[in-house]
Amino acid sequence: MTIGITGASGQLGLGLVRHTLARAAASDVVAITRNPAKLAEVSGLQTRAGDFSQPAGLVDAFRGIERLVIIPTGDLQPGVRIKQHSDAIDAAVKAGVKHVIYISSVSPRPDAKNVLLDSHFATEQKLIHSGVDWTLLRMSVYTDSLLNAAKAAVASGAYSAVPGAPAAYVVRDDIAAAAAGILTTPGHVGITYHATGPVSLGPADVAETLAKVTGKAISYTEMTADQQRKGLEAAGLPPFLIDGIIGFNVAIRAGAFDLITNDVARLAGKPAESPADFLRRALAQ
Ligand SMILES: NC(=O)c1ccc[n+]([C@@H]2O[C@H](COP(=O)([O-])OP(=O)(O)OC[C@H]3O[C@@H](n4cnc5c(N)ncnc54)[C@H](OP(=O)(O)O)[C@@H]3O)[C@@H](O)[C@H]2O)c1
Repeated sequence: MTIGITGASGQLGLGLVRHTLARAAASDVVAITRNPAKLAEVSGLQTRAGDFSQPAGLVDAFRGIERLVIIPTGDLQPGVRIKQHSDAIDAAVKAGVKHVIYISSVSPRPDAKNVLLDSHFATEQKLIHSGVDWTLLRMSVYTDSLLNAAKAAVASGAYSAVPGAPAAYVVRDDIAAAAAGILTTPGHVGITYHATGPVSLGPADVAETLAKVTGKAISYTEMTADQQRKGLEAAGLPPFLIDGIIGFNVAIRAGAFDLITNDVARLAGKPAESPADFLRRALAQ
């Protein structure tokens, strides 16, 4: 069976390529990316050029592929990502792909104020109604996304975050390993999986975890939502991106990612790494 992986040079995409190559013959794996040259280091890997913003070339990029994973793009300009994903699904249908796996998010929903969850919802609906076999792998919030704040907390002794509900942070590489499980084992058609971590942590729990894994005194300091927005503005991010990040954070704080499943273990064949183990490992590097 020929497996295709889009977004193959991104961090999640490359992780997925590596996990898939560990479970399938290289001759069965095609990596599709805007930058094939970036994948030259992966020996034996077949690559094809593919850009969701240039749909004319996508049908050729997807030809001959039986199982295709679509990794979401990171383009948060309103409307852009929905069109990119929709064009990719149309191209997959035209190319005769049998089974499309979409890496979605936990809690997708129509929400004009949340470009991330809104575009995942629209893409899921498009795929479900496309006529191809489908599987959804909804990811939780990356544990990796805690790392910069964790490093700052270790340096300052205070972990600063807006108070809110806990989230079941999942390590990016565990999402990749779970997706490789879908790609390389039979079945999975019409199933929605949730790649989550093994525990849910709120901001105070993150501070406590950091104190435990580093052996240092680290306290939790409450940040206001306004301070968070001002920090993003000070970093010079464009308004659409700030709105996208803020919308995602509002959803986290409302509990949209407080969902724990065993799907990573089921699909990857190994338990999901806890935030404590990930942070201990990552902070030691
Ligand atoms: N759950 C979370 O907490 C979380 C956090 C960050 C990101 N994400 C999502 O997960 C995705 C993968 O994350 P990552 O960590 O791998 O980020 P990344 O390293 O920045 O990768 C971005 C990805 O988007 C793809 N992409 C961008 N524009 C594209 C286009 N026009 N056509 C096709 N593909 C395009 C890239 O593919 P190529 O460059 O290979 O073409 C690459 O796979 C992100 O795009 C984002 O949607 C989720």
